[in-house]
Amino acid sequence: MSIVYDAAARTLTLHTRESSYQMQIGPLGHLLHTYYGRRAEGNFRSLHLLKDVGFSPVPHELDGETRGWSLDTLPQELSGANSGDFRLASLCAVTADGRRGAELRYVRHEIRRGKYALRGLPAAFDPDGEAETLSVILADEALGLEAELLYGVYESRDLITRAVRVTNRGSAPLRLEKAASCCLDLPFGDWDVLHFHGRHAMERQPERLPLPHGELRIASRRGESSHQHNPFLILCDRHTTEDAGDALGVMLVYSGSFELALEKDQMDAVRLTAGIQPEGFCWQLRPGESFDTPEALLCFGHEGLNALSQRFHRFLRQDLCRSRFSRAPRPVLLNNWEATYFDFDREKILALAREVKDLGADLLVLDDGWFGRRNDDRSSLGDWFVNEEKLRGGLAPLIRDVKAMGLQFGLWVEPEMVSEDSQLFRAHPDWALRLPGRQPMLSRSQLVLDLSRPDVYDWMFETLKGLLERYDIDYIKWDCNRSLTDLYSAALPAGRQGELAHRWVLGLYRVMERLTKAFPQVLFEGCAGGGGRFDAGILAYFPQIWCSDDTDPIERLTIQRGSCYGYPLSTVGAHVSASPNHQTGRHTPLDTRALVAMAGGFGYELDPGKLSEPEKQRIRRQIARFRELSELVREGDLFRLTELDDEKDYEAWQIVSPERDESLLSLVVTRPRANAKPLHLRLKGLDPAARYRIAEREIFDAFLPEGEWELPESWSGAALLYAGLTLPRMMGDYPSLRLHLKKTEE
Ligand code: GLA
Repeated sequence: MSIVYDAAARTLTLHTRESSYQMQIGPLGHLLHTYYGRRAEGNFRSLHLLKDVGFSPVPHELDGETRGWSLDTLPQELSGANSGDFRLASLCAVTADGRRGAELRYVRHEIRRGKYALRGLPAAFDPDGEAETLSVILADEALGLEAELLYGVYESRDLITRAVRVTNRGSAPLRLEKAASCCLDLPFGDWDVLHFHGRHAMERQPERLPLPHGELRIASRRGESSHQHNPFLILCDRHTTEDAGDALGVMLVYSGSFELALEKDQMDAVRLTAGIQPEGFCWQLRPGESFDTPEALLCFGHEGLNALSQRFHRFLRQDLCRSRFSRAPRPVLLNNWEATYFDFDREKILALAREVKDLGADLLVLDDGWFGRRNDDRSSLGDWFVNEEKLRGGLAPLIRDVKAMGLQFGLWVEPEMVSEDSQLFRAHPDWALRLPGRQPMLSRSQLVLDLSRPDVYDWMFETLKGLLERYDIDYIKWDCNRSLTDLYSAALPAGRQGELAHRWVLGLYRVMERLTKAFPQVLFEGCAGGGGRFDAGILAYFPQIWCSDDTDPIERLTIQRGSCYGYPLSTVGAHVSASPNHQTGRHTPLDTRALVAMAGGFGYELDPGKLSEPEKQRIRRQIARFRELSELVREGDLFRLTELDDEKDYEAWQIVSPERDESLLSLVVTRPRANAKPLHLRLKGLDPAARYRIAEREIFDAFLPEGEWELPESWSGAALLYAGLTLPRMMGDYPSLRLHLKKTEE
C-alpha cells in the first residue's frame, strides 16, 4: 500500500518509491502537513515545535494549554482564511450573511484503489492500475463548508496528484473567493525557485532565484496559461544542480488564469499555493453543490533537476495524455505558414505538397487563411467554410489531390475566436466577450467567443465535428491568438460574472474532450500564438503543442530547454524554417536548424521550392535520420549537459533510451571563440558496466582546424560518465554535432 493510516499517531502517509509525504490530524482536527521529502518511515509531527513566536493566534480551545499551537506557524495541509493563519490562504468562502473565511477540521478519510477523476477537468488517469486515492474530508461547520482533499499516489512514478472538491453543506448559498488546488508548507530548507517566464516568441525562459522574504507570485491573468508565465515551477535546494540535490516540482493541469504563489514567512518557512487565479474569481455554490479545483502534480526527488524532469516527462506521456499519439510515431510535416503566410492559392499549396512529398515528409499542413474571406488577420474568424476564391474548387479536391500524392493532410483552426468582420459575429454579436456599454478591446483585430455559454461551445463542437466529418483530415493545428479581456458574459447573472474565466476554460475542455474522443485518429496540435498555452491541461488532450512562433534555432535552444524542465520532448512542436530567420534575421546552417528541431515533434516551415538541390538532399537525409531517431527522442530520458548558469559557448543535451542501450548526444556551438578551450563533456545516464560505440557521428557545418578527430572504437559506460569526451574544436557560424551511441559487446 502506498497510502498508510496510523490510527495511533493519527498520521496519513503517502509513499512513492523515492519520496514520502505525511499529514497528521491535530488535537482539534486541523490537518497538519508534517513532511514531504526523500522516502523515510516515521512520525514527523515532532519536527514541528509548539513554539510561541509571539502574536500568532491560538485556537480558543487550546489557549489555556499552550500559546505555541498556532495555525499561523504550524504547517497546514490546506490553509484556511480569516482563522489565525496570516500566510497565504488556500480556501476562502463567504456565507450569504457575510461571514468570510475557512477554518477546516478533519471529519473522515478514505483510501481507495484507482485514481479519482475530476468533473469537467483534465486529470491524470491510471493506465497501469497502480494508482491509489486518498480522500480526506475537512469541514468548517460554522460556514457549512466542506473540502475534500484528493490525493492520487503513483508509487512507481514518484508522483502525487492533488485536487480539492469543495461542497456547500449548509442550507444557504456560499460564495467561494479562493479555491487553490494545493497548499504545500515547507518549514525547513534553503529554497531557490526555478520558474519559466517570457513573452510572445520568447516563451519559458528559465530563471532561478533564491526565495526572498515576502511573496512571489508566478501567475497569469490573461485567461490562458500565457506566454508570460507557465503553471509549473521547481523549488530546489540552493545547492541543487542538474544531477544532484533536492528538487520539488509543482505543475498545474490547467490552461486558464492561474496563480503559483510563494511566501517565505517570519520563520523562514515557505508556503506554496497553486491553483486558479483568485483575482476576479468567485464561484456560487447553492446548498449541496460542489466545485472541483484543477489538478496539481507534485514530484519530489533528491537526484537533481534532470531526474525531476524525467519523472514529469514519463508521467505526462504515460499517465496524463490520453491521445493514442502520445507514445506513437508522429508524421514529419510541412506547414505552409512561414512559406506563404496568407498569400497562397490552390496551385501554391499543391506545389508545396509536391515538394514536400519529394523530400520524404508525411503530412502537409494548411495554416491560417483558407476560410471565410481571410487574406490577412483582420477578418473571418468564426466563418469556418472554405474560401473558394483562394482554393478554387474547395477543400475536398485539394485534400484529394494532396492525398493522391501519398501525403496526409492537416488543417489550421482557431475556433475560440471571432472577427468583428465575420458572418458569425454579425449573426451573434452577443457570443463575444464584451462589457455592455463599452467597446471591447481588440487584439490581433479579434474578439473571444464566450465559451461559458452552452450554445457557443456546442456550436464550436458541431463546427469542428462538421469539418472533420466532411473532410479527410489527419491533423488539426488548434490555435488561440489572443488573451481574454472584457470579461462579461451576456448569459451569466450578475453574481456569477466572477465565474466566467473558469467557466470559459471548462467550455474549452468540454469541446476538446468530446472532439478528441469522437476523432481519436486525428492528431491534434495545440498552439496559442506559438507557446502561449503550453500546459498540462492542453497536453491531457493534445499530445503536442507548437512551442513558439520563434523558429530561430539559437533562440529555440533556450525556449526548448525551459519547456523541457517540465514537459517531454514529445510534446514540443519544433520546425526547421528558412535562413535568415523570419523572427530574428539570423543566418544558421540548415543542419543545425534540423538538429534543434529534432529535440521535439519534427517538421518544416519553409518553401522547399526556394532551396537548392544540395539543400533538398540534406533535408531528405534529415527526415530519414529523424525517422531512425524519433522513438529514442520520444521515449528516452533527457539529460541537460550544462548548468543553467554556466558561462558557456554551447548548449548540449543527451537522450538515453529506457534500456540504456542507446544514446544521442546533441551539441550546438552558440559562440565560436578564438583559441577556444577544449570542449569537454561528461555523459550522463549510461550504464557504467556496458560498452558503447559511436554508431553515427555527424558534425554539421564545422570547420575543424585540428584535422581528424581520433576516437577509440568503443568505451566503457564508466569512461564516458566519469572521464567524459573531449570534442573537436568546431569553428564557424553555429556548427553542431550529433553522436549516436549504441551498446556493443566488443
Ligand atoms: C499563430 C501561430 C502561427 C500561425 C499563425 C497564423 O501566430 O502560432 O504558427 O499559425 O498564428 O495566423
